[in-house]
Amino acid sequence: MATTPSQHLTRVLENLERALVPWVTSRLTARFGDAAWENELLRKAQERKITVFRNSEGIQMDLLLALHSISLFWPVFQDTLGKESKAHVQELREARNRRSHTGSRLTHKYVKRVADTAGLLLESAGLKDPGLKAVMQTIGVFNPRGGCGKSSTTIFLADFLSSLHGKRVLLVDLDSQRASSEILAGREAITAGLHRKASLPLLLREKFDGKADTHRVHHYLLERHGYQGPGSGAYLNKISILTCDRIDWWEFNDAFTKADDKDRHKAYRLLRACLNEVAHDFDICLIDFPANDLGPWARIGLHASDWWLLPCLPNWAGIRDLEAASALVCELIHQEKANIWPLATVPTLCQRASNKTYKSAVSKLEEAARRGYIPPLVPPDAQLSWRKEALEATDLSACDQNTMGKKYGNKTKPFWQEIAALTKHVLQRLNLPTDEIDFTGDAEDLNDWISGKE
Ligand SMILES: Nc1ncnc2c1ncn2[C@@H]1O[C@H](COP(=O)(O)OP(=O)(O)OP(=O)(O)O)[C@@H](O)[C@H]1O
Ligand SMILES: [Mg+2]
Repeated sequence: MATTPSQHLTRVLENLERALVPWVTSRLTARFGDAAWENELLRKAQERKITVFRNSEGIQMDLLLALHSISLFWPVFQDTLGKESKAHVQELREARNRRSHTGSRLTHKYVKRVADTAGLLLESAGLKDPGLKAVMQTIGVFNPRGGCGKSSTTIFLADFLSSLHGKRVLLVDLDSQRASSEILAGREAITAGLHRKASLPLLLREKFDGKADTHRVHHYLLERHGYQGPGSGAYLNKISILTCDRIDWWEFNDAFTKADDKDRHKAYRLLRACLNEVAHDFDICLIDFPANDLGPWARIGLHASDWWLLPCLPNWAGIRDLEAASALVCELIHQEKANIWPLATVPTLCQRASNKTYKSAVSKLEEAARRGYIPPLVPPDAQLSWRKEALEATDLSACDQNTMGKKYGNKTKPFWQEIAALTKHVLQRLNLPTDEIDFTGDAEDLNDWISGKE
């Protein structure tokens, strides 16, 4: 799973693209309206004999196109960028003119130069570091083994990241059984969303078929509403969800299987393209994968993942066929240039750490991680034990709770502490701050205290 310098460069560029594209899109949309700017862009490009890549999804908004847009719509960006950026734009224009191809492969040197220029533009526009921290990080919770704790781990992380660390969380539920969606938001909210056709396979299908009037991704988001109340900050926060209707899921599966090789490869990247559209609206995206699937859904999900989190039962049945998962991830990285980084292997439903089966499975997992087959193991305090509280927190009735305490029990109890440790470990691996929100004071006393009555 080691990454090469060229993979690193690609990743940096991808992050840059994800920072730049939504920004360009939002400025142009604000100025010209939702779709009008795309036509305007084509018109301007044609006028100036610039090749704009088009595919069946319409205009392909890649990094270079974002840069084209900046230079073509310079007056729109001028206000934002300020005078000092003119030189950067000039450089961009020159870089574009030097580019003599229509779709040929770009050299790394050229791409890097463009990326550097784009980075300068973003900086001078006052946008934050366009690198890893600025855009959403997507974690694929992937293990084809059924019942190994994928959905539970996803739910726990979604709650702790959003409600304890204040992160903006998006859940992508690729399982047509929708366990994580329904447990987080409740069956009613999910059914109501699906009723208005907010179903991920429909979104992918529209993109796959290249429909011109494709809705924006926001149209497909469902919500676990946040709760509010007096005092404590440990209310359950809002989580956005992309979920799957079962029939849509199968229909997409069918269409995908029947498609020719070229279309199928295009489809692998559809979810990533959708997530790029909302990359500025969330900090972390968690993808819950279905069991027993190494086909379309696994590939689409993995292509959209920046990181691989592997939940794993620490026993023989749990580790006996990890090869299938590892081989698929490696195939995507090495043959399809997917950018998946190893995040963590999490032993789940652990019975007893002193148990012989557990010890032998964990030492095998450690060795597999050392050899680079699977992501590195989390420390023992971040492994998830078998606990009855976990069953309660993943029961459908858990969606009726409004505070972390009601859903996950006491902060000092091992159940809470394991999930908290896992969440911190994940944040550290993503290079994000690990502070918890801590508003424990009673706001009603604040004015008294400030005016010195106490
Ligand atoms: N820490 C835990 N302690 C006790 N039970 C747990 C724990 N974690 C998960 N479970 C239970 O184990 C079962 C399987 O977990 P989960 O649904 O998360 O696995 P999964 O990998 O998503 O399954 P599938 O492959 O079917 O999607 C569920 O009934 C869940 O409530
Ligand atoms: Mg599941």
